This record gives sequence, structure tokens and C-alpha cells, in this order.
Amino acid sequence: MTQIEFSEQFIDILKSAKKVAALTGAGISAESGVPTFRGKDGWWKNHDPMTLATYEAFTRDPVLVWEWYLHRRNIVHKSKPNPGHYALAEMAKLYDDFTLITQNVDRFHMDAGSELIYELHGNIHRNRCIECGFTDYTETFPELPPKCPECEGKFRPDVVWFGEMLPHDAIDNSMRAANNADLFFSVGTSAAVQPAASLPIIAKQNGAFVVEVNLEPSGISHMCDVKYQGKSGEILPHIIEKIKELKGIDK
Ligand code: OAD
Repeated sequence: MTQIEFSEQFIDILKSAKKVAALTGAGISAESGVPTFRGKDGWWKNHDPMTLATYEAFTRDPVLVWEWYLHRRNIVHKSKPNPGHYALAEMAKLYDDFTLITQNVDRFHMDAGSELIYELHGNIHRNRCIECGFTDYTETFPELPPKCPECEGKFRPDVVWFGEMLPHDAIDNSMRAANNADLFFSVGTSAAVQPAASLPIIAKQNGAFVVEVNLEPSGISHMCDVKYQGKSGEILPHIIEKIKELKGIDK
């Protein structure tokens, strides 16, 4: 595994930080085998999000939308969390005040042991009735589009589509964590989609030290205090080891 450099300033903040937050995007799950959205192998390279990830698309062609989500669900089912997810679950144990925010819908953070997670874009495993709001985790359906088992209304994947509001609790708590953080990690996100993309900016504006972990430069790289260009599954475990060393915690 490649070693990473730690600046003095980063070491100081790793030691002294009291309020820590991390925002993750599709890149953290890439090493688990789940495609990202942008970039050369991303979903949006060959698919138009307006035909798959909007309420209008669902109204126009619910079967197509469901087939795409079931396909993605299947990919997630066959995959598992990677060292990047486990590293963030461990980070929560190293700081008393740690907030994990994700744009991902795959539930890998939870599977890796993270307990409190703000899922900004919903959860791909959950279904929700657009008529009565009933939710469940049924995986297979006798027909598409599926019907709500409670009221026979239209069932949809319980994710956030383009143009939709984010869950209030998740975004409010994420904004608060970004505002209050003295250390903020932006991991595997292109920072192309609002309002999630503004969280590292809010953190920075409120005095946080912002660290980016990404394979490539992103929309927020220019304002980050430290940028690690590489795989989150390799870089985050090094950061955890460093925090443990600085805090005198046995491996
Ligand atoms: P993107 O696909 O836009 O960006 C993924 C980022 O991960 C890119 O910046 C990559 O360079 C980086 N990356 C890829 N592999 C990586 C690795 N192994 N380690 C670290 N970084 C890696 O995904 P998001 O930023 O999550 O929303 O996209 C945000 C939202 O746009 C998604 O939640 C989704 C999408 O449209 C909706 O569907 C509403």
C-alpha cells in the first residue's frame, strides 16, 4: 500500500479536532464494484439522468425506471463494503462528535458498522408508496411497476431524484455538522450536485480544515486544505492509522 504524506498542519488538526464530519459520494463505493455516475465508466456516460432519475421519468415510463433501479440494487447486493467504508466507521470511534453524511444509496456505510448516517439521497433498498407513504424493503415483485401492499398505490424506489427535495432531517443535520466542523472530509464525490456539494464549502467558510480524498480533482479541490489524489479505500485507512498513532491508541 502506498504511504501518504501528512503536513504539520494536518497532524495538528487530526490531534485537536473536536467536531469532525465526512461527506461521501459514489467514489467511495467504486472499489466495491459499484459504478459512479460521472467519469468514463459512470452511469451518466451512457444514460440520460432525465430518463431515469426524475419523477417525470417515473411517470412517463415506470417500468424502465424500476428496471434500472433493480439492476443497480442487484449490483449492490452482489457487492460489499471496502476498506474506505470501514475506515469511516472507525473514525466515528476516534472522535466523540463525528457526523457521516452520504450521497450514496447503497447502505455500505451501515454494513461497515457506521451507526448514524445522514443519507441525503435516500436508500436504494427501500420502496415507498407515492400515495400513502408506506415503506418497505421488498426485493422482488410479481410485476413491474410494483404496487403498494397497503393501498395498491404506486410504489417507487425511496431515493431522491433530480428536482426533488432532500429529506429535511438529513440535510438540516448535515448543514449543522458542516457549519460546526473543525475538520471536514470530502470523499469520492465530484461535488457536482447541490445541495450536497455546498457542504464542504460551508465547512470551509466556517473555519473547518477541509480534506479531499478523490481519484481526480473535483469541483471543490481548489478550496481544500489537503488533497489526497488516490483511492479512498487505500488513503482513508492510512489516515485512521495516523489518528490512532497521534492519540496513542493501540492498533
Ligand atoms: P460522481 O460519479 O459524480 O463522482 C464520483 C467521484 O468519485 C469522482 O470525483 C471520482 O473521481 C471519484 N472516485 C472514483 N473512484 C474513486 C475511488 N476509488 N476513491 C476515491 N474517489 C474516487 O458521484 P457523486 O459525487 O456521488 O444523485 O454524485 C452525486 C450525485 O450525482 C449522486 O448521488 C447521484 C448523481 O446523479 C442522484 O442520482 C440524485
